[in-house]
Amino acid sequence: MNTKFVFVLVISVAFQIRSQKFENLALTPPMGWNSWNHFACEINEKIIRETADAMVAAGMKDAGYLYINIDDCWHGKRDSLGFIHPDSSRFPSGMKALADYVHSKGLKLGIYSDAGWNTCGGRPGSRGYEYQDAFQYAKWGVDYLKYDWCNTEALNPEGAYLTMRNALYAAGRPIVFSLCEWGNGKPWLWGKDIGHLWRTTGDITNCFDCVVDHGTWKSWGIMYVLDMQDGLRIYAGPGHWNDPDMMEVGNGMSFSEDRAHFSMWCMLAAPLIAGNDIRSLSPETKSILTNKEVIAVDQDSLGIQGFKYSSEDSVEAWFKPLRNDEWAACFLNRSLKTKQVSFNWSKEIVIDTLSERRIDADKDNFKIRNLWTKREMGTTQKILNAEVPSHDVLMIKLYK
Ligand code: GLA
Repeated sequence: MNTKFVFVLVISVAFQIRSQKFENLALTPPMGWNSWNHFACEINEKIIRETADAMVAAGMKDAGYLYINIDDCWHGKRDSLGFIHPDSSRFPSGMKALADYVHSKGLKLGIYSDAGWNTCGGRPGSRGYEYQDAFQYAKWGVDYLKYDWCNTEALNPEGAYLTMRNALYAAGRPIVFSLCEWGNGKPWLWGKDIGHLWRTTGDITNCFDCVVDHGTWKSWGIMYVLDMQDGLRIYAGPGHWNDPDMMEVGNGMSFSEDRAHFSMWCMLAAPLIAGNDIRSLSPETKSILTNKEVIAVDQDSLGIQGFKYSSEDSVEAWFKPLRNDEWAACFLNRSLKTKQVSFNWSKEIVIDTLSERRIDADKDNFKIRNLWTKREMGTTQKILNAEVPSHDVLMIKLYK
């Protein structure tokens, strides 16, 4: 064996042994914005810059949103050495300049690729170029990679995502790794040591409870995505989250529906990635996306995903344990009519076997705060009575 070959072999084996995902990233669910749900392929550097500006100006950065994520269709061609470059007509200043701009606002930049030959939008995928692409992203100053699963015939998802994880680690820049495998290969079973979040479902769509059939695939309304999270909470925690997809808040549903969608994503400890045009935020949409008390439920440092406690007459009661022995609760009205919610704390003992926590009104008296109206609602000594409009929520915090 020639010595040069042995040297290369030793180095690459060393990398394999040492390789891991970047730790201490996404210790709470990532917050930010992504271009896909609103703009699809119609993106350019002007939109990205203006979005970064708006993130700061609208108070979203202040509320915790950090990542500005460019989704599919930013790509140009690979050069003669195989390095990928952005489409120069849409991103004439290049990705490094864009990353510098986003960083200058105190924000971070995300990018998108695909484990297959091509992305879902038909742009060059990373298959066979994983290390080169990771190196290029690191060089540009990218902080977050969403890695899609189109055109991956004959690939094994765990192996393919592991290759990119190792490539990112070898490139040396801490990058949040977002697995977009749609849940087909159950990434919650193997994703914890590979990425920081994994999609649990196919694509979300902008309606409360419809399904859109695209022929070879379907996209799912908010309630369908919610139901698909059943059984997955045991897999989530700090640094490794279930991702029920980017939000549709501000993309056309009613105020109630947007509020219910946002509240439930927070109950799920979901990544909060806005998917609307934040350059033209309505006051209503802004009030939802920047409600810090609701965001605090999502971002709670325990990182325990909430669970459905009961479902009766189209009203679901969800609970999420929080730090300091607090709880969030959310009553979701899925019906088309206003519903009267009545919750008798002394008769209901809420038990969470995952966190080994319980709400027992005979032993503990909690104060109740409405997280949307910001009003106090008494204590758990009394029956909670409230009206919840159609497709809306009552979201509360229980605290001592
Ligand atoms: C897939 C993903 C979406 C989006 C598009 C881009 O459908 O699931 O979130 O990234 O590809 O083409």
